[in-house]
Amino acid sequence: MAFRASLRLATTARPAAARLFSQATSVPTSSASSVTAAQIRRDAALPNPDPAEDSASAALVREHAPFMVATYARPPPVFVKGQGSYLYDIENRKYLDFTAGIAVNSLGHCDPEISDLIAQQSKTLMHASNLYYNPWTGALSKLLIEQTIASGGMHDTAAVFICNSGSEANEAGIKFARKAAKVLDPSGSKTEIVSFRNAFHGRTMGALSATPNPKYQAPFAPMVPGCRVGDLNDIAALPALVTESTCSVIVEPIQGEGGVQVASDEFLLALAARCREVGAVLHYDEIQCGLSRTGQLWAHSHLPPDAHPDILTTAKALGNGFPIGATLVNGRVAEKIKVGDHGTTFGGNPLACRLAVRIVERLADPALQRGVAEKSQVFRDGFEKLAGRFQGLVQEVRGKGLILGLQLSEDPAPIVKAARERGLLVITAGTNTLRFVPSLVMSEEEIKEGLGVLEEAILATRA
Ligand SMILES: Cc1ncc(COP(=O)(O)O)c(C=O)c1O
Repeated sequence: MAFRASLRLATTARPAAARLFSQATSVPTSSASSVTAAQIRRDAALPNPDPAEDSASAALVREHAPFMVATYARPPPVFVKGQGSYLYDIENRKYLDFTAGIAVNSLGHCDPEISDLIAQQSKTLMHASNLYYNPWTGALSKLLIEQTIASGGMHDTAAVFICNSGSEANEAGIKFARKAAKVLDPSGSKTEIVSFRNAFHGRTMGALSATPNPKYQAPFAPMVPGCRVGDLNDIAALPALVTESTCSVIVEPIQGEGGVQVASDEFLLALAARCREVGAVLHYDEIQCGLSRTGQLWAHSHLPPDAHPDILTTAKALGNGFPIGATLVNGRVAEKIKVGDHGTTFGGNPLACRLAVRIVERLADPALQRGVAEKSQVFRDGFEKLAGRFQGLVQEVRGKGLILGLQLSEDPAPIVKAARERGLLVITAGTNTLRFVPSLVMSEEEIKEGLGVLEEAILATRA
């Protein structure tokens, strides 16, 4: 109820807020005279109708979009503010956010403690380059190692390379694996990188080459040579897929973009065993599924040491919205990386690292992790209700903790739009999958409200 009431409040307060915003930014507000009767009827029926052609949002988009490389197809709202579980647009509409900036804002939007830290550290030291030590790059590296081992994950993690994004973290992982293999086998025949169908590892050339999706790869072919593709959870195929020529196998324990597909424990155990047999580096990409999103620090933390990776990559939630990524390696990899092998100008800067230290401390909190499991159940109960009400639409529920996928029998785009126009943001993944990756501190009440809105949105698309 609180959500609905506040939605109405935000909507009625729209003209004043739009006026305020237009004063601050010179964005024109909508003129009532040019709004059609049909638009008025439609807008009256919805809490958050997508901003119309004559809105401040549309004016801003018209002014700015021509200057932006068109790599994304964005919906009409223009977001100006985030707070906790909510985003607000120029028209001062309020949206409950089940996306958390694609699994990034795990502590919610604009967490006050993190915002204060940004302010403090930005007045102390932001950047001095990797040519010098600072107090925070090493502190974050140490903390990531300690917390990883304490969580039961990657037991032999020994050193960390800090960068600015997920792609960069994977790129470092791929380069480290190639280097490690070259040290083991200087003949140069151990260079193959294995990844899995529906994987997403990033858009830079190395990470893209391990992302076997024709939509992403074809325009930029040829890819980095030596990449092979297998099927997730196909244990029988591993001996032929991972061979003496393999230097690295990169896998998401839960594929995010690919449609929330979970790698089975048996598969990861078999994969790790095969990697050890042929001397290949095992690389877990936990950029989306890690940092307590599954209710444990890493999605692999419950696995026995035999199934632990040699390389572990993280990003997204590590900065709660501030750009940062990290590549954790064990001693066998670390000892083969020498001064000058890899580098970055911005990676590991004291501002990003100081924030990440606090973020990791908070995300590693067992109480927060227990909360993730409880909230996950609220989602699952809601999904069961949806499956009961909309027979034939919901095919499957996948995922763990707060990385959940609802496999639908149809394109979810109309549902995503109907939800947005009712004040709820959701995203898709894979084929016909609704993806739920909200903040890990969203309240159960908010989740229930959001699920109610989702139900209304689905209903609206049945007409
Ligand atoms: C599993 C995984 N790996 C890598 C990436 C790439 O991260 P970034 O977009 O920060 O480069 C993503 C981003 O969605 C991801 O989900």
